[in-house]
Amino acid sequence: MKILVTGGAGFIGSNIVDRYLADGHEVAIIDDLSTGRRSNLNPDASFHELSITDAEAVLAVFEQEMPEVVSHHAAQMDVRRSVAEPQFDAETNIIGTLSVLEAGRRVEARKFIFSSSGGAVYGDGVPLPTPEDACPEPLSHYGASKFAGEVYFRLYGRLYDVRYTILRYANVYGPRQNPHGEAGVNAIFANLMLRGERPTIFGTGDKTRDYVYVGDVVEANVLALERGDGETLNIGTGVQTTDQEVYDAVAAAVGFGEPPIYGEERAGDIRRSCVDPSRAKEVLGWEPTVDFHDGVRITVEYQRESEVG
Ligand SMILES: NC(=O)c1ccc[n+]([C@@H]2O[C@H](COP(=O)([O-])OP(=O)(O)OC[C@H]3O[C@@H](n4cnc5c(N)ncnc54)[C@H](O)[C@@H]3O)[C@@H](O)[C@H]2O)c1
Repeated sequence: MKILVTGGAGFIGSNIVDRYLADGHEVAIIDDLSTGRRSNLNPDASFHELSITDAEAVLAVFEQEMPEVVSHHAAQMDVRRSVAEPQFDAETNIIGTLSVLEAGRRVEARKFIFSSSGGAVYGDGVPLPTPEDACPEPLSHYGASKFAGEVYFRLYGRLYDVRYTILRYANVYGPRQNPHGEAGVNAIFANLMLRGERPTIFGTGDKTRDYVYVGDVVEANVLALERGDGETLNIGTGVQTTDQEVYDAVAAAVGFGEPPIYGEERAGDIRRSCVDPSRAKEVLGWEPTVDFHDGVRITVEYQRESEVG
């Protein structure tokens, strides 16, 4: 089938593009290369360099490509930038999402897959692992804008009978994650350790996150092509991993013997985060398969070999 992937030059989007192409689908990409990389672009996909905030240009691409499925992964995903520049965040994540939804509706795309964030929409004070029906109380503009995106998908489902699956990813890690970004502690630690530099852990190392390997996230995106209509599904492991455990796992994979620098706790960081993936198992038949230590080893090897490493 013909699939249009927004954000297909990014970390997660490009891994999804590669898999869709390998499975025999036709793929078109929209990306403005703001955080994505040209080197991530699969040459077998058609590429349109533009911003999803340009509604007219987005519609023109949709009319040219006529996608059956729209995988919406383009986003401003820097939490700190979202707090510092809330309008910029909302322009990309809310107005941009609306451009994509409108264009998809106009060309009568069969289905949308939307990448939301389990780490950012729930906030603190929810049960752990967090089920999908926990009340979202985002703690950042990024969490609010991703949740707003979800609300529009559900609205389009009600108003126009648009089919969609919302995937709320936990903390995704793996090859192609940007080690110079604000998120992605595996990639950041690996990059520094490979250069012989000591990474900083903010706080004492006991904050937790739910790390899901990008290959498992890709699998959820494959399953969602045919299943999960109208559903909002957590894509994570249900396991909490501390910052210290991440440090130790990356250090072991790199062969780095030095301890971390412990810095000041960062204001606004959620203390504990972990999503319950049982509904994704019921609805999609999806389960995480890659063990954290194996995923870290693959990520470190990628980083060692890549130019960014
Ligand atoms: N990485 C995670 O742990 C995580 C967790 C939850 C949700 N997500 C979501 O998954 C999606 C992909 O994230 P990622 O980690 O691959 O980040 P990424 O920054 O690597 O990918 C985002 C892509 O979108 C593109 N983009 C940004 N603004 C754009 C615009 N205005 N127009 C067109 N393209 C634009 C970027 O160039 C980039 O290629 C995002 O929607 C993000 O919110 C990621």
